[in-house]
Amino acid sequence: MNILMINGTMRQESTYNIGKMLIDRIKKEEDMVIELFLPRDMPEFCRGCGMCIAKGEEKCPDYLIYMKRITRLIDDADLLVFTTPVFCFHASGQMKALLDHYGYRWMVHRPEGSMFKKQAVCISTAAGAGMKKALKDIKDSLAFWGVGRIFTYGIAVQNTSWEAVSEDIKVKIKEGLDKLASKIKLSPEEVQPSFKAKLMFYMGRMLQKRMQFNEADRVYWGEKGWLGKVRPWK
Ligand SMILES: Cc1cc2nc3c(=O)[nH]c(=O)nc-3n(C[C@H](O)[C@H](O)[C@H](O)COP(=O)(O)O)c2cc1C
Repeated sequence: MNILMINGTMRQESTYNIGKMLIDRIKKEEDMVIELFLPRDMPEFCRGCGMCIAKGEEKCPDYLIYMKRITRLIDDADLLVFTTPVFCFHASGQMKALLDHYGYRWMVHRPEGSMFKKQAVCISTAAGAGMKKALKDIKDSLAFWGVGRIFTYGIAVQNTSWEAVSEDIKVKIKEGLDKLASKIKLSPEEVQPSFKAKLMFYMGRMLQKRMQFNEADRVYWGEKGWLGKVRPWK
């Protein structure tokens, strides 16, 4: 299994360590784990030109230097692990900036077919509160990308560094991660999209049939055969 970890901070503190602990529980010896850190691996904001949606993702001004690589890594992964600390009750700005670059992959435009057979975990820590909203910031994108199975884990660590987090909380984290890890399918071929992922697909399909927002989307859905009998998860 290919595991891609996308960290919404450069700090290797609580959020990163929890993400690593989860991966350690899941990964087998032969599994490949790649770690990306934001903003290092994608420091640009979306300019809002909309070229990705209207003309194709390779027209994005950030495609050649950053997005081409990250997109390849995402598409090659079986399990995506997104981590973000809570910043002001939401995901980090750098995480949002990355996700904004994938507006073209939302179900109403050109979802990537392999998403339906992927699993993803979103992890967030806060000192006190805001994990739910931060996790939703990421989960919303993943759901609209069509990711087959999405899990979340958030915890208030009551501190600003991993070392200072109390032993009681660390025990609670270990228990939570054991539970979460047991839900992840270790063989990618066993992954089937959730009812919600399929529902999102059928809603996107209905919109494509009725509305046809732009030419690039229309051609894409047509070529995939998704407006007919072909389904991305089969
Ligand atoms: C700019 C900034 C904003 C923050 N906003 C919140 C917040 O809204 N709620 C909260 O409980 N903690 C907040 N925190 C604390 C961090 O979310 C918390 O310490 C987190 O565990 C840090 O993760 P890290 O150790 O992986 O860097 C904030 C920290 C920073 C630097």
